[in-house]
Amino acid sequence: MWSIFTAGVSPQTDADWADTHVDFSYARGLLADHACSRAPGACTVNSSDTNTLSGALGYPSAADASRPTVCSTCSHGSHMVPYLVRRYDARSVIEVGVCTGATVVSTLRQHGDSIDSYTAIDAWGERRCNPGCGCYGRLRPIAERFPALHLIQAYSVPASASIADASSDLVFVDAAHDYENVHADVLAYWPKVKPGGVLAGHDFAHHRNWAEILERRQAHARTAEGRRGKRIPPSYGVGQALAELFVHCELHVRFGVWWVERRLCRSGPIATNRSEALWQRPRRRKGKGRGLA
Ligand SMILES: C[S@@+](CC[C@H](N)C(=O)[O-])C[C@H]1O[C@@H](n2cnc3c(N)ncnc32)[C@H](O)[C@@H]1O
Repeated sequence: MWSIFTAGVSPQTDADWADTHVDFSYARGLLADHACSRAPGACTVNSSDTNTLSGALGYPSAADASRPTVCSTCSHGSHMVPYLVRRYDARSVIEVGVCTGATVVSTLRQHGDSIDSYTAIDAWGERRCNPGCGCYGRLRPIAERFPALHLIQAYSVPASASIADASSDLVFVDAAHDYENVHADVLAYWPKVKPGGVLAGHDFAHHRNWAEILERRQAHARTAEGRRGKRIPPSYGVGQALAELFVHCELHVRFGVWWVERRLCRSGPIATNRSEALWQRPRRRKGKGRGLA
């Protein structure tokens, strides 16, 4: 029955994002949210660079009304995955950590005709979708209409076992952002990238990349600093994991999104010398002259 409706659909036409026999307003809402960054040229303008972390790039930090303004969604996967698809002519895409599917719909809307396969992997474990990420049920009608979209509801590392090695032009890692998980996801998904493909991910410079954040906040609140009202120290889990894994390779960062071209990193990520996550500060041993613990 579905083939009647999916035959000849093009994710790049407005008509195929309209309601037919199912309510497609959820998908259209996501597209509307990210319309700013989809406007031609919207994200070719450098902002104050809070998103890129790659230097001043010629524009001052202060707002300047005479210069074009960059959209806030330029730093979102819904802009950057389409950008990478276009830049690397990616036909097979894997997104690890999908949440609402904003990036899925934005990418299909812009490049769906040339994408053979878009695999969206997420545990979708929460009960609610937006706020929350329990969006599997919202995304199923989209996958039913656009057969290139495959949803895998699973944790990222176990799910990687079901994906053939060297099968993807672009893998976008955007699941848990703490050091340990990013490390594990990069190692699990690097082999899935074709020799000419790209491994990418989100939130390179995000400063709240703790695992088990609730537990850490509670533990911090019980410390002397926490009792004095000091905030939990920042943690740059994504940046730290990547700096270690790809210290020998060229790492691109733009609008908070990082990527590595596999052809320029033939030896792949190096999983040695794992250090402690940055949120863990060195503690001093009691007594004089004993150095750091
Ligand atoms: C930052 S959101 C993803 C946003 C999405 N890529 C986008 O561009 O709109 C992170 C998602 O990763 C999922 N997630 C976190 N850890 C995961 C894991 N280990 N395996 C699978 N999914 C995970 C969460 O359920 C959440 O939906």
